[in-house]
Amino acid sequence: MDKHCYADAGQTSCITVRSLDNKYKENKMLYIGVDLGTSAVKLLLMDEKGKIQKIVSKEYPLFFPHPGWSEQNPEDWFYQSVEGIKELTAECDKEKVAGISFGGQMHGLVALDESDEVIRPAILWNDGRTGEETNYLNEVIGKDKLSGYTANIAFAGFTAPKILWLKKHEPENFARIDKIMLPKDYLAYKLSGSFCTDVSDASGMLLMDVKNRCWSKEMMDICGIRAEQLPKLYESYEAVGTLKPEIAAELSLREDVKVIAGAGDNAAAAVGTGTVGDGMCNISLGTSGTIFISSKNFGMDEHNALHSFAHADGKYHLMGCMLSAASCNKWWSEEILKTSDFGAEQAGIRKLGENNVFYLPYLMGERSPHNNPDARAMFIGMSMDTTREDMTQAVLEGVAFALRDSLEVAKSLGIRIERTKICGGGAKSPLWKKMIANIMNLKVDVIESEEGPALGGAMLAAVGCGEYPDVETIAGKLVKVVDTVEPEEELAAKYEEKYQKFRKIYPAVKELF
Ligand code: XUL
Repeated sequence: MDKHCYADAGQTSCITVRSLDNKYKENKMLYIGVDLGTSAVKLLLMDEKGKIQKIVSKEYPLFFPHPGWSEQNPEDWFYQSVEGIKELTAECDKEKVAGISFGGQMHGLVALDESDEVIRPAILWNDGRTGEETNYLNEVIGKDKLSGYTANIAFAGFTAPKILWLKKHEPENFARIDKIMLPKDYLAYKLSGSFCTDVSDASGMLLMDVKNRCWSKEMMDICGIRAEQLPKLYESYEAVGTLKPEIAAELSLREDVKVIAGAGDNAAAAVGTGTVGDGMCNISLGTSGTIFISSKNFGMDEHNALHSFAHADGKYHLMGCMLSAASCNKWWSEEILKTSDFGAEQAGIRKLGENNVFYLPYLMGERSPHNNPDARAMFIGMSMDTTREDMTQAVLEGVAFALRDSLEVAKSLGIRIERTKICGGGAKSPLWKKMIANIMNLKVDVIESEEGPALGGAMLAAVGCGEYPDVETIAGKLVKVVDTVEPEEELAAKYEEKYQKFRKIYPAVKELF
C-alpha cells in the first residue's frame, strides 16, 4: 500500500493506491464502485467475477462552521472522484470498463440552481443544526403523520429538516433551488446528466413513502418544495444513463459506460457484505456506526427508533445509526493522544470485560436510539489507577455498547439475530471485532473484503449492466465469509453486566446536554 500526498488548490490531498492484481487483460468486464464517504472517496475496480483489481482513495476537507454543524463542498467530491477514476483505471484496459455505481454518505442536502451551480456547501448527515425543525416536524406535524407518510420520523440529520432550515435561515438560497439531491446523486448527475436518486438513499430524506417507493406529496407540501425539484427515483441496480461524451473523453472511457443509480452507503455496504434477502445483519464501523437488518417485507419499529428504509436489493431494511463510531477512535487517538497508530494503541489492552471506565460516544449528538443532536460524549468512572489503555478501551467499548442499544430495539420488535457481517475501517481491528461479538453476543462473520460500500457499488454496477440477474444472485456468488469471531461465554457474561451499567448512564446525564 502506497500513500502519496500532494498539494492542489492550496490544500493537501492524499491518495492511497493499492494494486492487487495486474492481470486485467484476462477479464471480460470491469466495474467501478465509488464510496463517497465523509472523509474520503474510495474507488474500487472489480472484474465480472468479483475480483478486486485496485482500490484508490482520495480525501477532501470536512468543515465544522459551528459546533455540531458539518458541511462539505460537492465540487470537492466530484473533483476527487474524477481524479480517483483516472488513477483507478490508469493501467487497466479502459475498453472493458462497463459500468459505474455508488454507495454514498446519506441524507446530505445538495442544492443546485437553474444553471446547475451548487448553491451552498452540502449540509451533511451528521449535522445537528436542525433541532428546531426536527421538533416542529415531530411535535407540530406529528410523528404519527410523518410515519404514515414516510415510515419514519424526523432526525436532525435527515434531509427534510435541512430544507426547512434553509427556508427559514437562508431564504435567498432556498428561493434559488432548482434541484435537490443527495451526495452520490451529484456525482451521477455530473457524470451522466441524469437527475436521479435511488430508493435506499431517498428513504433517508423523509420525503419518500418508503413502503410504496415513491415521493410523498404531503412531505413536499410540508417542506414547501415541488415535485420537479426532486430527482427521478430508481431502484439501486437500475441504469440512469451513460457517461456524458465530454466526461468519457476526460476519463478516457467509452461513452457507453453505464451509470447505475447506486445506494446509500449502508445499503451499498450491505450488498458488499451479502446482507440481502431476509433477516441478515451487517454492522458498519465507519465514521458512523450502523446496524442494518435486511427484510423481504416492509416493516416498521412503532417507536421509530430504527429507520425503516428501502434496500438496494429491491426489498427493505431496518437500521440503527450512531453518528460517531470509528470517528470516536480517530478523534481520541489523533486529536487527544496525537497518534495515528491505532494498532499500537490497542496492543496493550488486555482486561476485556473488566474496565471500570465508560465512554458515551456522542461526539456529534446521537441518532439511534436517543434522537438527540445536543447529546455529547463523556468519560465516566476514572480513578487514580486508570491508564491510557483503559481510556482507549472505553472508547472502543462505548461504540459497541451504543450499537447494542439499537440491537436491543430490534430484539424488542421480535427480531432474532444470531450473527452479523462487519465492514468499515473499524472492522480492521481484531480487538474491536472481539468486543462487538461479546458485547452484542453475536457471531461476527468476517468477509474477504471489508470494503462494504465501494464493493457494493461495483456489484450494483455489475447487476445494472446485466452481468448478474439480480442483487441476491451476485451477493450469493461473490461474497465469501473467511472467518467468524464467536462470543465467549464468560466474556459475554462480563460484558452483559457492563452493558447494564452503560445503558443507565445516558438517561442519568441527558438533562445536562
Ligand atoms: C445513515 C447515516 C450514515 C451516513 C454515513 O443513516 O447517516 O451512516 O450514511 O455516511
